[in-house]
Amino acid sequence: MTHNNLFHEPVLKKEILALLLFKKARTVFDGTVGLGGHAEAILQEFPEVSTYIACDLDAQHLEFARKRLNKWKEKTFFYHQNFAQLKDVLNEEIKRPLVILLDLGLCSHHVDDSSKGFSFSEDGPLSMAFDSTSTLTCANILNKAPEQELINILREYGEEPSARKIVSRIVSFREEKEFKTTFDLRSVVEESIHPKDRRKSLMRVFQAFRIAVNDELNILKKTVETALEVMNSGDRMGVISYHSLEDRIIKRLFTLHSRPETIETDKSLHTEITPAKFSLITRKPVIPANEEIENNPRSRSAKLRILEKI
Ligand SMILES: C[S@@+](CC[C@H](N)C(=O)[O-])C[C@H]1O[C@@H](n2cnc3c(N)ncnc32)[C@H](O)[C@@H]1O
Repeated sequence: MTHNNLFHEPVLKKEILALLLFKKARTVFDGTVGLGGHAEAILQEFPEVSTYIACDLDAQHLEFARKRLNKWKEKTFFYHQNFAQLKDVLNEEIKRPLVILLDLGLCSHHVDDSSKGFSFSEDGPLSMAFDSTSTLTCANILNKAPEQELINILREYGEEPSARKIVSRIVSFREEKEFKTTFDLRSVVEESIHPKDRRKSLMRVFQAFRIAVNDELNILKKTVETALEVMNSGDRMGVISYHSLEDRIIKRLFTLHSRPETIETDKSLHTEITPAKFSLITRKPVIPANEEIENNPRSRSAKLRILEKI
């Protein structure tokens, strides 16, 4: 796949512009700039934004976004790093209010490009790392991780009911030869699962290993907690998630921090209530309209939640 024909339709674009951005916003931290679709729309609609900080683990995406956003080169800053590092990038001098955007997971391009190893539809090297310089790959995990760890990955990150059966095939496979390609993993799943349930299992298994390779859930939790620490009054954070494991983390943390805190001060159960530090801009997650899902079926599982520091 050449550099110029990468494609990804930004999800919930209108909703991001209407609910997450606002006229007074001055800095945007876009932790997942991807191919720059949201970034372009934000920079176009909100000329008041004077600093746009763009991160991505995928160097190829970052380069594409840099070219796409060249028109705003004086105010866009690109970082090939994990969004978990947001504290290193956001120094004290940044102009507030700040808007933090995380649009989690894969770009369409990741699925379309078999060399990244995310897709079970085409054969390719079994990587699944967002950062192609990373030494941890799905193949490493399959070849080396203890059996119980593999079962845990499939249960926790894939909610796969046949985890034990699939892992027992993985273990037999690696006794014979090393896992190298996406079709190696696919064949093991296909041998373990009845044809009518195969597609769902393949989706769950590939999702589970992708989450494990990139440590996605731990990174997400840590990043949201750090983001809440660095936010000042009037700053906003919006997260678009694509599966229930991610959404559960966002929902729990956003709800927890937008409630008044009750502290028991002594044994007589005297309680002190401190007012909530954040408010929910979205009481319920915002989901794509039918029209968006028709035009871009990959948007169907998206959920956007937004929080503001009071
Ligand atoms: C859904 S795409 C973002 C699409 C983007 N909003 C757009 O409009 O083009 C997600 C991007 O996040 C990147 N990514 C995933 N996890 C990351 C992390 N922990 N830190 C930085 N980038 C990450 C992926 O490489 C991918 O490019």
